Amino acid sequence: MLVTEALVITVQTMWLLLPLFISNPTAVFFGNDKPIDGGRTWRDGKRILGDGKSWGGLIGGTLTGILGGLIMVLIIHNTSASQYWLFGNNTLQVVKNICLISFGALFGDMIASFFKRRANFKRGKAVPGLDQYDMIVGVCVLLAVFSRPWFIQQFLDSTRWVGLIGVFILTPILHRVANIIGYKIGIKQVPW
Ligand code: CTP
Ligand code: MG
Repeated sequence: MLVTEALVITVQTMWLLLPLFISNPTAVFFGNDKPIDGGRTWRDGKRILGDGKSWGGLIGGTLTGILGGLIMVLIIHNTSASQYWLFGNNTLQVVKNICLISFGALFGDMIASFFKRRANFKRGKAVPGLDQYDMIVGVCVLLAVFSRPWFIQQFLDSTRWVGLIGVFILTPILHRVANIIGYKIGIKQVPW
């Protein structure tokens, strides 16, 4: 396969996953003092998710990602863009997939926090690998379960999987840049 072809597929895959790259970082802006776990602890006596996972962050981040996805649709609407730039073939599918991608990011992030608490990591402690990929894995799982044909068609079929590999390579870089910006402008306590 040509390098250019791989790059195009990666850009297309990245475009389709953009709502997740919006919902995850914007959750920081909406974080509040209403923890999703309600302050409750697991059987090991440690918090289920911790104070870093709040309803404000979950809802605010998800809605911002959905809004971003809808704006993307407006941009691409009425252009000659191929199906690989579209979230589906009809309005219902488009909205559903945008919601799954946007929510999936924070869902994956929540599952990661659950395991971080079990492994005794304090809130905000960096766990290389998990921190970068939790959101993409969350999205892939939700799409594979609730939007399987579209997921296979756009992300796995024929040469499409190349795009996912590309995104996996680019994600740690984007994650790092976003966190450094968040730290510099004072919305994140740590630059990771
Ligand atoms: N945030 C939130 N609700 C979410 C996700 C994120 O309120 N569902 C906010 C919190 O203020 C959180 C910040 O965004 O501290 C950064 O998110 P993240 O790095 O995912 O959380 P951590 O503080 O690192 O907590 P954890 O150790 O559980 O990952
Ligand atoms: Mg963190």
